[in-house]
Amino acid sequence: MANYNESQRVTVDFNYMMEKSLGAKGIKDSELKAHAKQAEEAYEYVKANRGKDELFMGWTELPYNQDEIVEDILKTAAEVRAKFKYFVVLGIGGSALGPIMAFNALKHLHYNELSDEKRGGPKFYVEDNVDPVRMQALLDVIEPEKTCFNVISKSGATSETMTQYLIIADILKKKGVNLPDNMIFTTDASRGNLIKIDNSYGGAFKKYVLPDGVGGRFSEMCPVGLLPAAVLGIDIKAMLKGAAYMDELCSSAKIENNPALACAVLQYVTMKQGKNINVLMPYSDNLKLMADWYCQLWAESLGKAETYDGKIINAGTTPVKSLGVTDQHSQVQLYIEGPYDKVITFISVGKYACEMPIAHGCEDIPDVGFLGGHTMQELIQAENKATAYALMRAGRMNYTINMPVVNEFTLGQLMYLLELQTAYTGALLNINTFNQPGVEDGKKATFALLGKRGYEAQKAEMDSAPALENKYIV
Ligand code: PA5
Repeated sequence: MANYNESQRVTVDFNYMMEKSLGAKGIKDSELKAHAKQAEEAYEYVKANRGKDELFMGWTELPYNQDEIVEDILKTAAEVRAKFKYFVVLGIGGSALGPIMAFNALKHLHYNELSDEKRGGPKFYVEDNVDPVRMQALLDVIEPEKTCFNVISKSGATSETMTQYLIIADILKKKGVNLPDNMIFTTDASRGNLIKIDNSYGGAFKKYVLPDGVGGRFSEMCPVGLLPAAVLGIDIKAMLKGAAYMDELCSSAKIENNPALACAVLQYVTMKQGKNINVLMPYSDNLKLMADWYCQLWAESLGKAETYDGKIINAGTTPVKSLGVTDQHSQVQLYIEGPYDKVITFISVGKYACEMPIAHGCEDIPDVGFLGGHTMQELIQAENKATAYALMRAGRMNYTINMPVVNEFTLGQLMYLLELQTAYTGALLNINTFNQPGVEDGKKATFALLGKRGYEAQKAEMDSAPALENKYIV
């Protein structure tokens, strides 16, 4: 593993949230001070409940308790890399967004198009939908018998994932493939339908456990994310080390010494002011899908009807994904001049994987010629700074998470920072951050519509719902 040090520390700069930069539109130091006690309580709550399975807080310990699993994953990954041409994740939501995000962040942006030699591992796909066109498109580009399918589902009861499984299993069987030769299950230790399927094959499938106390959206640093990442040749030990490092950086109950707590308090204070849109805008194509992962983490965790003591609060702010600089030409106009209802979080990169010099030319056209001699890295960084500055000048709150480079170590830090931020914000709101009753309701309604046994009453209720009036259909 590479040698990482302080120079790769992820930091948070929230100057542009504060009164000093924004005047009356900013947060006063006194306001932060006024929240110090609540922040401390949120910190203590998370600390006291670390690792508790019954509260779904097992994720806090993932950087520390997986030595054996990591070794096993590395062994399996080496076998998969040697044997298969394609690696496909079948899963959805928390069982898919992490693997997609890490793939996007740490591998070549056109990985699947690289030559076999340059790629060095199997082509990689994640099927996180049940769009038939997408499934057909996958089948058009892979050879199923040369593919390792990683079926990831904690419950083994998610219609989307099990639909993907049924289709692929049928194709493999028709080709005479013994399913356990081409499939790995990542699922609950003992419950769930993937376990039943495995039992029907005499326990022949290679299986990884999605630990009891780890919910889908907090699962990237368990086998859900670690196996796909290892198959891609990503240094998963460094990723876990980065998470542990951020954990250490966040081991204070004081806002000024804990970046995740600072972010949580900023979000909480602005939420109370009615700012209900939370934009994540990485200035890096490698982090574009980090915003997708974050949207789920934030929305599913904090979008909750009631507090622990039964008060209806309908909590949560709407996460929005944005990409710098691309969305400067799409959304930033709204951020600068639209309603004062947003907080923008930038993710800035200190050193990109390459700099890309801009060639000289068009010297007789000053509007173009000035670009020559700079680099694309300079340009994207200047645009990032300029956008943050312009927002600040317009009285718009924004803060920046600085990533010195994008690698396994810093990505581990970033994930853990955002997970902790979410947990602290949930604690400030006094809500259950780790359940998802709304998602479960949708799952149940789908079961009813498709005639699953046990859901007859719900189907009858849905069928008898007042008929939609034609006058509202245009
Ligand atoms: O975060 C969550 O808990 C959800 O998004 C789940 O990950 C998603 O619904 C898939 O569930 P499962 O892993 O049980 O198939």
